[in-house]
Amino acid sequence: MQAKTVNFSRTVITELMIPSFANFSGKVHGGILLSLMDKVAYVCAAKHSGAYCVTVSVDGVEFREPVEVGELVSLSASINYVGNSSMIIGIRVESLKPKTGELKHTNSCYFTMVAKDDNGQLLTVPSLILENETDVRRFYDAKTLKEKRQEITNLLQQEVHVLSTSDMIKGLEENRCIIQF
Ligand SMILES: CC(C)(COP(=O)(O)OP(=O)(O)OC[C@H]1O[C@@H](n2cnc3c(N)ncnc32)[C@H](O)[C@@H]1OP(=O)(O)O)[C@@H](O)C(=O)NCCC(=O)NCCS
Repeated sequence: MQAKTVNFSRTVITELMIPSFANFSGKVHGGILLSLMDKVAYVCAAKHSGAYCVTVSVDGVEFREPVEVGELVSLSASINYVGNSSMIIGIRVESLKPKTGELKHTNSCYFTMVAKDDNGQLLTVPSLILENETDVRRFYDAKTLKEKRQEITNLLQQEVHVLSTSDMIKGLEENRCIIQF
């Protein structure tokens, strides 16, 4: 299987924020932006793998700045890392007010997608050709993210099995909740 460069699948989608995307105060719903992120991640992953892909996990989604109707949202996506069947896609989201030229960086996040064949079985994806220092740094960082994510998953599973309800209640004493049983 032929390795591919990061540039081969690099994708930018720009979308006009229309009134039906907004809530009552004219700000765009977070779910609309999430859907656009999923779309651009899919395009990037499908181009790299040449296959059908599904979303497995999402990391780092934060809405730092509100996005308003009339703004142009651009999502720039590239493959940061490939494993066997998985790909981590980095997405930078920017919103532009066309009249003033004001540009906001609203979010950077990471989508993990896997490639599947027509029977739903995992497919091995092409290796990634790293052509510069940025490609190397992003690959390294994404590999670290994948390892840390696995550590957190393991930790959560341990805690679920170790803590009793009374231990959990003790750990919540300083928190703003009222236990009523
Ligand atoms: C994701 C999925 C393929 C994992 O299946 P699995 O049998 O557990 O397979 P594996 O454990 O071998 O994982 C396959 C790959 O996914 C990665 N993966 C699995 N769970 C993951 C998670 N929570 N976060 C990030 N990556 C994950 C693994 O690291 C592995 O990567 P690699 O092949 O590059 O080494 C399976 O759970 C699935 O198909 N989920 C549904 C996805 C979907 O339909 N998404 C659309 C949402 S509506």
